[in-house]
Amino acid sequence: MAGIAPQTRRIAVVTSGNSRGSNLRAIHDAFRNGAYPVEIALCIVTKRSAPIVTLCQDKGIPVEFISSKDLSTFETKLRSLLDEYQIDLIALAGFLKKLSISFIRDLTIPILNIHPALLPRYGGEGMYGIKVHDAVFAAREKRSGATVHYVNRDYDSGRVVLQEAIDITDCTSPQDIAAKVLKVEHHIYAKAILKVLKIH
Ligand code: GRF
Repeated sequence: MAGIAPQTRRIAVVTSGNSRGSNLRAIHDAFRNGAYPVEIALCIVTKRSAPIVTLCQDKGIPVEFISSKDLSTFETKLRSLLDEYQIDLIALAGFLKKLSISFIRDLTIPILNIHPALLPRYGGEGMYGIKVHDAVFAAREKRSGATVHYVNRDYDSGRVVLQEAIDITDCTSPQDIAAKVLKVEHHIYAKAILKVLKIH
């Protein structure tokens, strides 16, 4: 009997206004050519001028702009776009605002985030971008890495989906650590999405 092709799962990447989009690119690359029944069906930006917009246009990924100035309006519009685009999973990548408890509770699809450190260490409010790597470097850590986790009511504290550690003893600056960790991010986000969607 011929197998039934699995339904393609549609993910939305939600980013801030300054996102480079390197995680979006890595996820897109992992899922293109039908290697897995997953596609980035939507990218949300909070600034029309975000560099990620051009990247999405190149890749043919639909982009929608929502201002995040007012969180409640942002969440209402986001909810309606998730319905319109029939999204199965949200992947935050560089989205810095804290989503409300009611938004998270009422949503029936998973929300993931990627953090550039080995949570639970070096996470929490204010720990983003180079600040994370500054702290790791100042503490003379021998290892760092990246963590994909579910989003809950507090910053960077939801259940871990996937974490990968690397040796950073060769790094001589926070920027070195950031570059090394970013490669790990690109490696694990798509894997974590497959894990949550139970696609093997
Ligand atoms: C990544 O470093 C991620 O860990 C953090 O935001 C950054 C987004 O980078 N949450 P990019 O826009 O995907 O390049």
